[in-house]
Amino acid sequence: MLRIDIITCLPGLLEGPFSHSIIKRAIDKKLSSIHIHNLRDYAFNKHKSIDDYAYGGGAGMVMMPEPIALCIEALQAERTYDEVIYLSPDGETFSQSHANALALCHNLILLCGHYKGVDERIREHFITREISIGDYVLSGGELAAAVISDAVIRLLPGALSDESSALNDSFQNGLVAPPVYTRPADFRGHKVPDVLLSGHAANIEDWRHEQSLIRTRQRRPGLFDESDPS
Ligand code: ADE
Repeated sequence: MLRIDIITCLPGLLEGPFSHSIIKRAIDKKLSSIHIHNLRDYAFNKHKSIDDYAYGGGAGMVMMPEPIALCIEALQAERTYDEVIYLSPDGETFSQSHANALALCHNLILLCGHYKGVDERIREHFITREISIGDYVLSGGELAAAVISDAVIRLLPGALSDESSALNDSFQNGLVAPPVYTRPADFRGHKVPDVLLSGHAANIEDWRHEQSLIRTRQRRPGLFDESDPS
């Protein structure tokens, strides 16, 4: 069972991503649970504020440390967390290997940043890992938290109806996936490759592997270097 606690000041943004398809089914099957915490519930001053001006001046607000600390501490008082992850464009770039590692955890906290980000002391004293989902800036960490949760939950044993299919995903073996086809065998004169209709399992497997290699070389040559242990 993987429990994910997401701390956000925009809980409404996270209502959709977990209510459909594979992720919903995994939650219904109790393989995972998602708990959304509204940071404003931990605002402690009389204005219920969660952000404030940056010391030193400049445009943009900074997320105050106290509400975040109170929320994380309340969660940590209940259970031990494997990681407290801050979603930020300057974190490590998320990859399939992060997803594989996080799928082995039991309890995760994901903290969504906003505005100019969180007070540095939260990053220093509460956060165990910082993750970016790519080299672009989102308006907040919520969509990144949804991406990471999705990539991790679908890997949990039992989440996919065909157990082998997560292993065949692009990136799982350092290659991108081969092309796939369904009926009709002839779509407007465009034919499905004969080997896939042959019923010869070994030839089909060889063809798929070869296609993966060709595609990886064409589209993502860098993957060969990254997976090269030498
Ligand atoms: N918050 C804003 N941009 C982000 C990104 N690229 N990844 C993770 N969190 C973010």
